[in-house]
Amino acid sequence: MIYNMDCIEGAKQLIEDNSVDLIITDPPYNLGFGGTTQTRTKKPRFSIIANDNLSHRDYQRFTFQWLYQAYRVLKPGRHIYVCIDWRMYPFMVLWMRRIGFITKNCIVWDKVNMGLGWQYRFRHELVIFAVKGERNVRRISTRSDSDVWRIPRIVGNKTVHPTEKPADLMDKMILNSSEPGELVADFFLGSGPVAEAALKAGRRIVGFEIDPQYFAITQERIARL
Ligand SMILES: C[S@@+](CC[C@H](N)C(=O)[O-])C[C@H]1O[C@@H](n2cnc3c(N)ncnc32)[C@H](O)[C@@H]1O
Repeated sequence: MIYNMDCIEGAKQLIEDNSVDLIITDPPYNLGFGGTTQTRTKKPRFSIIANDNLSHRDYQRFTFQWLYQAYRVLKPGRHIYVCIDWRMYPFMVLWMRRIGFITKNCIVWDKVNMGLGWQYRFRHELVIFAVKGERNVRRISTRSDSDVWRIPRIVGNKTVHPTEKPADLMDKMILNSSEPGELVADFFLGSGPVAEAALKAGRRIVGFEIDPQYFAITQERIARL
């Protein structure tokens, strides 16, 4: 079930306490990002996404509200993965701990193809990996998996969303942290990579996207599966 609505209201109204088996989500990073600039026009390809241009105080308030809902709906002992970049990592990790999540690791996503930036061009993002509560119900086999994941990003002109992530990035989190038939939640669907990966792996999905344009992209994407 996916909904074109605000995730905070949506979670409050539609998701029961301790009912979700896994959360994977990619929130706005509050960097006012409109996507890679087009070569010819020098303009960003997209508008700035919702809640990506707030004052720091408003962003903190917004983040605490959705993190609180995420904590409430996740089953004890289960995992949450939150995408973020190096600029907002110190805040997000602190706020997740304040809410009660036990942070376990920070996965480095090596995007293989570099992006923008002129003082060392950006090629990585981070994924905070945490558990609800002390009891970690599922253990990740660290023998076979490191915390650096080399997965190519989707290159600029092929993207349909300014901060689009590949579904391949979500696959490993879903396979390591859930079982077929279990419920995966994504509070910020965007163009729908988590929904696609979850459904392909035989999981159920509940998710929210506030922007009707991106919601429609996710809807079409999962209808094609
Ligand atoms: C970082 S993007 C997610 C991109 C996604 N991972 C993808 O690969 O396409 C965050 C998304 O959250 C949406 N959003 C922002 N505030 C929201 C809110 N309060 N509730 C639901 N969606 C929201 C934005 O419209 C944006 O599409």
